[in-house]
Amino acid sequence: MISSILQNASIVYRSRSDRNLEDNTLRFLSSGEDDNELIYYDVLGTEAHCIMLHEIGILTISELGQILHALLELERNTTLIDLASFEDVHESLEAFVIQQTSLQIGGKMHTARSRNDQVVLDMRMKIRDDINNISTYMLDLIRSLLKKAAENKKTVTLLYTHLQQAQVGTFSHLLLSYVEALFRDLDRLYFLYNRINQCPLGGGAIGGSSIRINRNRTALLLGFRGLVINSIDATSSRDTMCEHVSSLGIIMTTLSRISADLILWSTSEFDYIDISEENSSSSSAMPQKKNPDPLEIIRGKSGLLLGSMISVFSIVKSLPTGYSRDLQEIKPALWEASRSVQDSLQIMKMVIDSIYVHRERMEQVANNSYAISIDIAEQLVIRKRIPFRTAHKIIGALVEKAVRNGNLPLAQLKREQVEEVLHKVKSDLPAKEILQIIIGLTPEVSVCLRASAGSPNPKHQQQMISILNRKASEYETALSNRKRHLRTSLDALRKVVKNHLLASNE
Ligand code: ARG
Repeated sequence: MISSILQNASIVYRSRSDRNLEDNTLRFLSSGEDDNELIYYDVLGTEAHCIMLHEIGILTISELGQILHALLELERNTTLIDLASFEDVHESLEAFVIQQTSLQIGGKMHTARSRNDQVVLDMRMKIRDDINNISTYMLDLIRSLLKKAAENKKTVTLLYTHLQQAQVGTFSHLLLSYVEALFRDLDRLYFLYNRINQCPLGGGAIGGSSIRINRNRTALLLGFRGLVINSIDATSSRDTMCEHVSSLGIIMTTLSRISADLILWSTSEFDYIDISEENSSSSSAMPQKKNPDPLEIIRGKSGLLLGSMISVFSIVKSLPTGYSRDLQEIKPALWEASRSVQDSLQIMKMVIDSIYVHRERMEQVANNSYAISIDIAEQLVIRKRIPFRTAHKIIGALVEKAVRNGNLPLAQLKREQVEEVLHKVKSDLPAKEILQIIIGLTPEVSVCLRASAGSPNPKHQQQMISILNRKASEYETALSNRKRHLRTSLDALRKVVKNHLLASNE
């Protein structure tokens, strides 16, 4: 069968020459492997195009029926087409239909269409689905983070800058910071969807067609909201794909940061969290090891994704207007990026669901830390109405004293030691009062005193969690509406196909 199709290939596609491509050249040119991802969309696009061709009088009902019959067979069993022997899915699909029908019938399928608008149509349809899948996985991860946050509103922990102990905080606050970043990442995809979900079909090779095709009809049949109207733009532009891969790159950068944090906190040195056995790997040599490999793979994949991003941009940026075959080469990078992000989001959700938080350990480290210093300084500002800079000097000198005395917690300084420090910094504040402030300011008290909006204060945590849960619900509803619209459109297309098939048999 393959050889007979190949025979057709030279007859059908190579009108200028009657010779087939060299095997090596064909292999080099072919996007067959990457087009596996596009077969389904190519079939749908072709169904819609042929229905429209029938509606404008190019295909008779019987011709349409035979073409649709062949396409349905393909939809049921995509292995029927032989991608490797053709330059791409578009050629193999047309060859299959011609073989199943005849050149007289199948040969009409490509009227007013070019592989140039066909490929970009398929890519837009696939990316549209990818965006919806990725958005679903993002919302699942967001919900898991919100759940963990709700369990840890009062879990006191340290916050780090420069990876040095910085301020006392709550664990939920940190998890919510991931949620905020993920929502921005989601939002980028959400709006990109509207730009992707426009139909380029009918752009032809670049300059449209003299046949009066109905572009709005095919767009509607395929569930698009509107057209990429300019035929040059429709076939030449890949900016939305650059935007897509960039958005994915940013998502992976967010996931990479989360991974880096979780990896660090699960070390014996930090020991803030435990990652479940099911989501860790062991060492072939060191029996005691439990390694956070899934998180490391996410972090590693984020590097690969930035590579995909550069690949896509570098290919696109060197091209003049109009389709060039270089554009074929962006497909593997795009598919790989989509796959990586989907896998990583699902793995990250599983890790988050499974982490065990060592609350006592977090609290103990916070209790023994000088990260409380800024809170003490602020209390001096509030209660003693002294300039922050002066308070900063006093507390800095007290920390210095405590460190020199064997890293004493500030609350264990003796009154005389505080007096010595006050004398040294020329402050006339009473040592007793300062000590009282220090002793009263445990990490739990200090987070409850945080008053700025968006702080680790458990009250703020509760507000943020409610707002973010509501936001997740809004996105979930909008997303399911989008998915429903697509499903309904494609179901309707299926019905139109079926009706035409029935009519063609009458
Ligand atoms: N396989 C090509 C791609 O993936 C399809 C378009 C080919 N168009 C052409 N004029 N050679 O981009």
